[in-house]
Amino acid sequence: MPDTTAPNLVAAVSEARHWDQMMAMARIGAFTDPDGNEGVNRPCLSALDREARRLLIKEAQGIGLGVSIDAWGNLFLRHEGTDATLAPVLTGSHMDSQPNGGRFDGIWGVMAGLEAVRAIREAGIATRRPIEVVAWTNEEGGRFAPGCMGSMAFTGFARPDTWDAVADKDGITVKEALAEHLAEEADIPRRPLGVVEGRAPHAYVEAHIEQGPLLEREGQDVGIVTGIQGSRWFLVEIQGRTDHAGTSPVSLRQDAVQDAVRAINALNALMHDPTDVLRFTVASIEVSPNTSNTVADRVRFTIDFRHPDNTVLQARGNAIAGVIQSALRHCRFTLTERFHAAPVEFQPPVPDALERAARAQGLKAKRMPSGAFHDAQFLVPHCPTGMLFIPCRNGVSHHPAEYASPEALAAGTRVLAQALLQLAND
Ligand code: GLV
Ligand code: MN
Ligand code: MN
Repeated sequence: MPDTTAPNLVAAVSEARHWDQMMAMARIGAFTDPDGNEGVNRPCLSALDREARRLLIKEAQGIGLGVSIDAWGNLFLRHEGTDATLAPVLTGSHMDSQPNGGRFDGIWGVMAGLEAVRAIREAGIATRRPIEVVAWTNEEGGRFAPGCMGSMAFTGFARPDTWDAVADKDGITVKEALAEHLAEEADIPRRPLGVVEGRAPHAYVEAHIEQGPLLEREGQDVGIVTGIQGSRWFLVEIQGRTDHAGTSPVSLRQDAVQDAVRAINALNALMHDPTDVLRFTVASIEVSPNTSNTVADRVRFTIDFRHPDNTVLQARGNAIAGVIQSALRHCRFTLTERFHAAPVEFQPPVPDALERAARAQGLKAKRMPSGAFHDAQFLVPHCPTGMLFIPCRNGVSHHPAEYASPEALAAGTRVLAQALLQLAND
């Protein structure tokens, strides 16, 4: 990219407009928690998701971008290049949220892409390659587990029908929700499904809040992400027998709750890491029947296990079944692996383009890995890929108190815009 274009571009990114658009998105699915924090609950493939997408589409069409969706509902906004035959530079993130989510996780990467493309157009800069902004379907996995379904289908990491039978808490399956969603968006032109039916992008760049405390603590403006740690998700189901809480001797019970406690304690020991690098989370605990005076015959819980070293991810993940088996006294169990993403490293040129852009704008940039998973990790085998982080207050995320300042959002968007321009013209 000729450096002479950068000042126009940097000036064309509007902090006020970008913030207003972020706050307009934050109203869709807004809630206020008991502490007064304003969060967002916008499940994927829901009416709220579609409302947010319609708002995005209106903005995109207003500035002349082409809009299309694929068979997984991934939404694309296209800025045309001077050579429309070239593979596009892709940027974006997701618009769904956690149930107790914040206003910035995911949605910022999409809105930053839109603002960056708008700034490129307003600055009157042509790009050789097209630039496309993508909103991936179901990154969070909060309604339908696992997350990243849209990007996994796009990249052929998993067959598009892999999750057809996965159901939400109301028993609605992914297949049903996606069919309804596509019917509601039948007016939007359809495109082939990513690298499965179409072609790989020239490069992929994802902007995201850090979701951790390092950038803020160190006074950095942006993070240049070096890679993403690996993640594995499991569902554990423990099966016992119901009994009368007053009459059945404890020694004769098949109490699923007591065995679940034993299993979780044993798993905590397996996952103990004195270096505090390993991440291990048990959640979504369901007990059935859930009454005080009946011994439970069924407990389900989820495991989210992450590590940057693939050897550890494989060894400890593969040990889970044996550890649960040894811990149970009276019950049977099943273990289902629902997500398995190995660690990835981002290679040049994307991290370099981001770092050059940050330095050219006089910003402090730090190279750092990502503890959260992101759609970007599935693009890595297909095209040069990278991510940009901005600081968020106290590192809080997946919580309604999640916050990034208007200045931080605009600074990140300016870096993104310059890096996109460079990648689109290289
Ligand atoms: C993404 O939301 C993650 O859980 O890392
Ligand atoms: Mn996210
Ligand atoms: Mn998230």
